[in-house]
Amino acid sequence: MNKKLIITVDGPAGAGKSTVSKILSERLDYIYINTGAMYRVVALESKRRNVDPGDETGLAQICSGLDISFGRKDGNLRVFSHGEDVTEEINTPEMSLRASRVSAQRVVRNAMAELQRNMGRGGGVILEGRDAGTVIFPQAHVKFYLDAALEERGKRRYKEIAARNQKVELDQVIQETEKRDFDDSHRALAPLRMAEDAVLVDSSELTVEEVIAMMIQIIHTRYPSLLNN
Ligand code: DC
Repeated sequence: MNKKLIITVDGPAGAGKSTVSKILSERLDYIYINTGAMYRVVALESKRRNVDPGDETGLAQICSGLDISFGRKDGNLRVFSHGEDVTEEINTPEMSLRASRVSAQRVVRNAMAELQRNMGRGGGVILEGRDAGTVIFPQAHVKFYLDAALEERGKRRYKEIAARNQKVELDQVIQETEKRDFDDSHRALAPLRMAEDAVLVDSSELTVEEVIAMMIQIIHTRYPSLLNN
């Protein structure tokens, strides 16, 4: 039987982590865990319940009653909170910034870390986020750090948002991406950084397929029995 690896994909916003993690998980027949979506659900619940992103007590209450799940509808990945499909609602620029704020709180990080370790400990998973390879699974078998130039990342985010018919300006998306990266990499707890043993992949000038091919090559070199092609 194939070894069930833990693979982590970290990096800043808009580097293409979700796109490549999803495709890679399909090729390997692995479970894809989008940890950013989990922070986004906490952000959404905090908005719905009028809890300030800095209110630790209110956030603790939210975290103790979370029910986050992932599923598929018509081949697309969906995120559920208490069984309700919240995929559209959590993927707005407002929720991006709010997720970044709640993710700096210890009570939220501890709750997410426990959930993520439980989901991933059996292996056969691709865990995507900011601290997957540094804090959640420092013992992961293969770690990737996906990066790209700020302008390029901003443009990708802009296209994703515009495709959902949400109104935004490119300049504003680039500014917000820059702010979020700064905040995510300068917070006290589990800041975004590349693990020492991670493989850096710069996707600025690469297509999605080229990035996937590089990642598969690296996995294949280290674990030849895992892939047949
Ligand atoms: O990956 P994303 O853009 O959906 O993440 C939203 C925010 O959640 C991000 O700005 C910071 C936070 N986050 C985090 O702190 N740790 C993670 N592992 C994933 C996301």
